[in-house]
Amino acid sequence: MTRENWGTRVGFILAAIGSAVGLGNIWRFPGVAYENGGGAFMVPYLVALVTAGIPLLIMEFTIGRKYKGSAPVAFRRLNKNAEVIGWWQVAISIVIAVYYAAIIAWAGWYAFFALDQRWGDDPEAFLFVDFLQAGDMYDFGTWLPGLGTVMIVIWAATLLVIGLGVKKGIELTAKIAIPLLAVMFGVLVVQALTLEGAEVGLNAFFRPDWELIWSTPSVWLAAYGQIFFSLSVGFGIMVTYASYLKKKSDITTSALTVGFANSSFELLAGIGVFSVLGFMAVQSGTAVEDQVSAGIGLAFVAFPAIISTLPTLPGLFGVLFFGSLVIAGWTSLISIVQVPVAAFEDRFGWSRGLSTAILGGLMAVVSIGLLPTVNGIMLLDVSDEFINKYGIAVAALVSIVAVVWVAWKWKELRDNANATSTFRVGPIWVVFLGVITPIMLTVILFYNIRDLLTADPSDPEDPQATYNLYQSFGWSVALGAVAFGIIMALILRRRDVPEI
Ligand code: PHE
Ligand code: NA
Repeated sequence: MTRENWGTRVGFILAAIGSAVGLGNIWRFPGVAYENGGGAFMVPYLVALVTAGIPLLIMEFTIGRKYKGSAPVAFRRLNKNAEVIGWWQVAISIVIAVYYAAIIAWAGWYAFFALDQRWGDDPEAFLFVDFLQAGDMYDFGTWLPGLGTVMIVIWAATLLVIGLGVKKGIELTAKIAIPLLAVMFGVLVVQALTLEGAEVGLNAFFRPDWELIWSTPSVWLAAYGQIFFSLSVGFGIMVTYASYLKKKSDITTSALTVGFANSSFELLAGIGVFSVLGFMAVQSGTAVEDQVSAGIGLAFVAFPAIISTLPTLPGLFGVLFFGSLVIAGWTSLISIVQVPVAAFEDRFGWSRGLSTAILGGLMAVVSIGLLPTVNGIMLLDVSDEFINKYGIAVAALVSIVAVVWVAWKWKELRDNANATSTFRVGPIWVVFLGVITPIMLTVILFYNIRDLLTADPSDPEDPQATYNLYQSFGWSVALGAVAFGIIMALILRRRDVPEI
C-alpha cells in the first residue's frame, strides 16, 4: 500500500502550525514572558527558538520524511534499537490527548457562557463549584453530563477528521481552521487594543527587566521550556506529520516558517492579553502585576471577570476568546491523536479506519469517562504538570542523544535535509542540536528535579507541596508510559518493518 501524502506544501505547513499553535500560545506564553523579564524575555526566548526549537524541528521533519513512518517505525528504520523511543512518544501522546480534550470542552462551554456572562460576579466560584463541581480528592464517582456531552462531540469530530485521512481530514481542517483562527484572533486583538488602559498593560508587558534575565537561570529555563512545549517537539508529532511529505519536499524552510508563525502567534497573544489586563488594572485601580496569571486561572477566572466589565460587546469578545481557544486546541489535539493512530496503522498493518476506531476509541472512552468528573481537574493538573516539567525535557533529550550521539545519524540527516531544501544546514545546526540543546535540557531537568526533592510537603504555601499529594499518581503514569514503550519494543523486536 502506498503511503498517503499531503496535497500541497501549504497544507502540510498549515497542519504543522495547527499542531504548534495551541493553548500554550494563548494562555501560557503571555504570563511566562511577563514573569521572566517582560520585553527582555525576548532575548532568551529567541535564543531558545533558534538554538533548540528550530534545530529539533528540522531533525523531526527530516526523520519523518526520510524514514516514512510514524514515530515507532521511523525510529526503528533509523536504528533497530530505537523503536522504543517511538512507542514511548506514543504513550505520552495518549496521556496528553486524554486531558487536552477536556480543556477544549471547557473552552467550548465558556464560549457559550460568554454570551450572557453566565459566570456572574464570582467567576472562580462559578468555575470550581457550579461548573466543575470539584469535590473530594479521590471522588471520581460523579460524571458531569454537560461537560461529558461536549467532550463526546469533540472526540467524535476529532476521530472523524483522523478517519478521513491526511489529505481529506487533517489538511482540509487545517486549511479552514488556521485562517479562521487568525481572523478571529486578529479581531480580538484589535478590540483589546482599543480598550482604555491597553497601553498600560503593553508597557508592563514589554518593559524589559535586563537585570533579571542576566542574573536568573530560571528565566532561561522558562524560555527553553516554553519553546519545546509550544513547538510540539519531542512527542513524535512532527515526525508523524512529516512522514506524509513527498520525497522532494523542502524541510528547512518549512521548519522556519512553522517556528516563526508559532512565535508570531505567541507575541500577538501577549499583546492581546496584556491590553486586556491593562484595561482591568485601570478599571480597578490596581497594578497590572496583580492581574497577571497563566493557564486555567488566566483563561477561566481572570478573563471571565474582565469580559463582564467590558464597555462594549462583551459577548463578542468572549466568543472570540474562547472560540480561539477551541480552534487552537482542537488542531493540536488532532495532531496528538494522529501519533498513536498512525503508529498502530504503520506497525501492525491496520487500516486507517480500524486504527482510528480502536486507538482513537480507547483514548476517547478514557478521556470522556475520567475527565468530566468532579475530580477530573486533578487528573488534568497533574498530567499537565508532569508533561511540562519532565515529559518534554526527557523525551526531547532522549531522542536527540539517541539520534545524534548513539546512532550517529546527524550526517545522514543533514545531507538528507539539504538535498531538497533551499536553506541548507551546516555545522551550526549540529552544534545547536547535538551539544547546546542537550546541555540546556539536562540543566532544566536538574533544576526541576531538585525543586521536587527539596519541596516541603507540610508547607501549604509551597506550590510543590500540594503537588506532592498527587505525586504517586503522576509517577505511575510516567512509569507506565516508559513500561509501555519497553513492552511494545520487546514484543516487536523480531518483527521487522518493511524496507522503504
Ligand atoms: N504546541 C501546543 C501549544 O502550544 C501544545 C502541544 C504540546 C500540542 C504537545 C501537542 C503536543 O499549546
Ligand atoms: Na504553541
